Amino acid sequence: MGTQNAVLLNCLRAIVGDAHVITDAITMQSYTIDWTGRWQGEAVAVVRPGTTDEVSAVVAACHERRIPITAQGGNTGLVGGAIPSAGSIVLSTQRLNSIDTIDPVGRIIAAGAGVTVAMADDAASKHGLQFGIDLASRDSATLGGIVATNAGGVRMVRHGNTRAQLLGVEAVLSDGAVLSRWIPLVKDNVGYDLPGLLAGSEGTLAIITKVLMKLTTPPPETQVVLAGVSTIEAALNLCDRMRRHGLTVEAAEIMTTDGVALVCSHSDARHPFGQPSPLYTLIEISSSGDTEATVLEILSASADTMDDAIVEPGPARKLWQIRESHTECISRASSTPVVKLDVAVPLPEMSTFITALESALAAEFSEVTPILFGHFADGNIHVNILNVPTAASNAITDRVFEIVAAHHGSISAEHGIGRAKKSWITLGRSPVDIRIMKQIKSALDPRCLLNPDVLLPTASAESTQT
Ligand code: FAD
Ligand code: MLT
Ligand code: ZN
Repeated sequence: MGTQNAVLLNCLRAIVGDAHVITDAITMQSYTIDWTGRWQGEAVAVVRPGTTDEVSAVVAACHERRIPITAQGGNTGLVGGAIPSAGSIVLSTQRLNSIDTIDPVGRIIAAGAGVTVAMADDAASKHGLQFGIDLASRDSATLGGIVATNAGGVRMVRHGNTRAQLLGVEAVLSDGAVLSRWIPLVKDNVGYDLPGLLAGSEGTLAIITKVLMKLTTPPPETQVVLAGVSTIEAALNLCDRMRRHGLTVEAAEIMTTDGVALVCSHSDARHPFGQPSPLYTLIEISSSGDTEATVLEILSASADTMDDAIVEPGPARKLWQIRESHTECISRASSTPVVKLDVAVPLPEMSTFITALESALAAEFSEVTPILFGHFADGNIHVNILNVPTAASNAITDRVFEIVAAHHGSISAEHGIGRAKKSWITLGRSPVDIRIMKQIKSALDPRCLLNPDVLLPTASAESTQT
């Protein structure tokens, strides 16, 4: 270890305590490889501050020595954004894990960035409330992480994305200064929306230490429908009919026959119907009336466009398990790290997009296995490509994004850009847009120390793809 690093480590130990500066290779492993196994980084140390003051002192010490910092929450990100570049430190928010207050009347939670989504929802439920963001990684994904990625998740169709829930932040800037935009009001219109700017900033603008977020009222009861359908139009029509009958759509997901079969063969999930269907839609609904009766009426009116259907009162975890196990089962089933693309297309183009995508992949990359699923009512399809030879991953990504662009879509619906999609950002943003983003980056982080290899296409790519 160089003298410079030894001095840095001593300084960091003096700030957070010896136990919270991790340098041994084995313990560091889980912080330097991403959830998908596709991105492997390298760090000088993992530092785990316990307070905002400690975060500020750690960041100031790194700023002085020009040491890059990668913020990390639960490390469940799917685009390689939380993985450090050589010479960086990982600043883990794991110890910023206390819930400060819940205001049950204003419906606001104030909590540390390291609090998990499940902890926030649990705390809200004790007051008869619900956290508005939910995703299968809920037990590990942190509030800092969902803000930094502007996560979507399964309730986005109902409550909007993470940015829509965010009221305030406390965050440490690249020189150690603390920004506190902490006003527990839903109406506060004084100048630029800095919390909104940090939402989706992927650790490149500041380290979020606390968040102030909205809570929602849970529906009194829900019904969960799992229907087998032959076309995406049938799924969209079912969702539309539910809304037109006054039902509230709490979640609306799509799966394919190959995806459901894969989940059933790589987990204890059971196939929902006697006969497979080309597509499966899972829709959770609520209403102020007799939800079940209305749902049954709609299903019977839609019988000619459905192969089969099950209705269960929420939470219907067994039905949800089929959907939520996709990510893990797909990872387990692939012989190489999965190429995970997360795209959105306008609803009227979804059907032609899926057909074009499936036929292009079958014709041009016959050795790979695509599995599609996603939050279809938001236009969001997760394109997972299994068994991709490493050398082919860029060509496949190029091809998928070309089809997305032809259908007026987005190359990142909810996971962000990270390392994985940095090379394609020009497909999602114009040169002027990118110039403004770079100017914002250099205004907030002039030394380019916060996650320098993520999101914007300036910096070097020091981490390696496995
Ligand atoms: P990390 O992975 O630790 O970090 C993600 C990014 O945020 C990195 O760029 C990191 O530098 C930055 N960051 C983290 N904390 C901070 C902080 N305090 N300050 C500044 N920057 C920070 N995503 C969805 O959008 N919708 C889904 O439905 C969804 N489902 C998932 C299901 C599974 C099984 C898995 C494994 C992942 C899923 N994800 C989903 C992806 C992931 O869970 C989200 O991106 C989540 O928001 C990441 O949170 P995290 O705490 O793990 O962040
Ligand atoms: C999901 O919706 O389950 C996630 O975004 C995870 C994934 O895309 O694998
Ligand atoms: Zn998703």
